[in-house]
Amino acid sequence: MTPLNAETLLAAPAANRFDVARVREDFPILQRLVNGRPLVYLDNAATSQKPRTVIEALNRYYSMENANVHRGVHYLSEQATAAYERARRRVQRFLHARDSSEIIFVRGTTEAINLVANTYGRSRVRPGDEIVVSAMEHPSYIVPWQMLCEAQGGRLRVIPMNDAGDLLLDEYERLLNPRVRLVAVTHVSNALGTMNPVKEMIAVAHARGIPVLLDGAQAAPHREVDVQALDCDFYTFSGHKTFGPTGIGILYGKAALLEEMPPFQGGGDMIRSVTFERTEYAPIPAKFEAGTPSIADAIGLEAAIDYLERLDRPLMEAHEAELLRHATEALAPIPGLRMIGAAREKTGLVSFVLDGIHAHDVGTIADRDGIALRAGHHCAQPVMERFGVPATARASFAFYNTHEEIDALVAAVHRARQIFG
Ligand code: ALA
Repeated sequence: MTPLNAETLLAAPAANRFDVARVREDFPILQRLVNGRPLVYLDNAATSQKPRTVIEALNRYYSMENANVHRGVHYLSEQATAAYERARRRVQRFLHARDSSEIIFVRGTTEAINLVANTYGRSRVRPGDEIVVSAMEHPSYIVPWQMLCEAQGGRLRVIPMNDAGDLLLDEYERLLNPRVRLVAVTHVSNALGTMNPVKEMIAVAHARGIPVLLDGAQAAPHREVDVQALDCDFYTFSGHKTFGPTGIGILYGKAALLEEMPPFQGGGDMIRSVTFERTEYAPIPAKFEAGTPSIADAIGLEAAIDYLERLDRPLMEAHEAELLRHATEALAPIPGLRMIGAAREKTGLVSFVLDGIHAHDVGTIADRDGIALRAGHHCAQPVMERFGVPATARASFAFYNTHEEIDALVAAVHRARQIFG
């Protein structure tokens, strides 16, 4: 079968194209005006918009089903528990995990990483040990490891990247010495859009007995993720970037690792028995879910995954690839514009700078036309430093974006040049 790509998509009859107009109707916010103009939402890497089914799931839960989980014997509590655990099984299938006990509900990717650093990290990292991260990490992927290294006397090592924004895999292999306790890399960069060759990187680390944690915050909304095929040891993603609610995220971990890790936070629900002398912890996943969880948000995330999986994923990916191609081709020739990040494989994200014009000014001009861009260092200061720029303007796409919206972005960039250039 011919693989679907942008060319085959354009040649395909309409029935085989991704129906953007139809999916846009599912997102109430996309119908609103901003500054008197139709909203053009190009900040999906910061957070994505929510389909009506997610909003309705939250509304239904709070209107009719709200109760605490794993505690009551009453009807509502049993229903809420069943719905919460069903959401966990939904995430299990979404990630192709072996067992639902390998899915831990957390607040988001940041909390998931802090959980691994504080449990796996603190129990494994000894003075002189090393953690390997990459040069394109987000601070949530740098700071928890720095804190861990400071506490344990460990050392952070960094995989460098080239000018296109691809990691240098030879350097990566050279970093994998017997002191390395964990490789923690991003699946997709939030600042550059680079999709890292993680399967290959995992195989190389595993050949040396080193486990790998992947930050999937920017990957899960755009690509099918199969944690068993990747063979990663940990995987994280955030609900709010995957068309679900804020306040919910996922840590996947292989059961054998999760079982031997100490708990993260102490509290209700993570214990089997407690006395003042000693506590026996609950089995996974409860061991890592102290206190009342974000029940409604887990249910909202289930609705988001249901929505995403009802879409035609190959057509959706081809549509996003075509948006990226359109944006890259239309922006690159603009005089004084420099694209930051031209990796071999990218998701739908363009980062750029304009000679003599601050990224914030580009963002402000775009905002006047109702266009939501992100301008700044995108919580990725080391990436900005690597490319010698203080900030970039970033447009990040989702399946509901259109080619007309890319044209509006290009027009706003031309206007910024006229005003500030
Ligand atoms: N990490 C998010 C972003 O890239 C907030 O915008």
